[in-house]
Amino acid sequence: MIAPSVLSADFLNLGRDVAMINNSQADWFHVDVMDGRFVPNISFGLPVIKAIKKQAQKPLDVHLMIVEPEKYFQDFKDAGADILSVHIEASTHLHRSLQAIKALGMKAGVAINPHTPVSLLADIINDTDLVCMMSVNPGFGGQSFIENTLHKIKELKRIIVEKGATTLIEIDGGVTLQNAASIVAAGADVLVAGNTVFSASNPTQMIADLKLISK
Ligand code: DX5
Ligand code: ZN
Repeated sequence: MIAPSVLSADFLNLGRDVAMINNSQADWFHVDVMDGRFVPNISFGLPVIKAIKKQAQKPLDVHLMIVEPEKYFQDFKDAGADILSVHIEASTHLHRSLQAIKALGMKAGVAINPHTPVSLLADIINDTDLVCMMSVNPGFGGQSFIENTLHKIKELKRIIVEKGATTLIEIDGGVTLQNAASIVAAGADVLVAGNTVFSASNPTQMIADLKLISK
């Protein structure tokens, strides 16, 4: 599956870019929320997500790069999130958070930074709908893919199979036409793509090209 990252969209023409994603082969909208505390950048928040939701015809995959994410689950549900991911590094009570997200009717995701071992997910994997594995340090679009992620994907896949879980693996950061095939071969189910899609001369075609590789 392909999830274009709205972070790289043209915010002056957000309606146009949302329509482009609607009319493309993309599967989800990837929506990055940054608070300037968990990550050294601030992106956008609830009012923008609400606006995207009005027009979006595909699920909103909301990636929270914020501290104390549990304070805002209801707000993100109300804004239109379909999948809500919290960082393992920002969650003291991850199990409780995942249950709370699901109780609100959303799919529950865990995002994990490049330095955090995937073995930490073993005892929570059966409660996790999606792992958003960071393949760059979170905070900015347009960075280069960290190659060690490929090992982490394989290890996570092993854990998922071992535990009989149905968790999807999403790779977030630095995905390009060049590395997409190896990421999928390692075991990824969902590719996030910001810069690769929105800096392309034909974003719709780029989504189709990525989609072909991810099948
Ligand atoms: C980074 C964000 C990513 C970002 C990916 O902190 O979580 O979703 O938008 O952008 P690209 O594909 O440009 O690396
Ligand atoms: Zn993201």
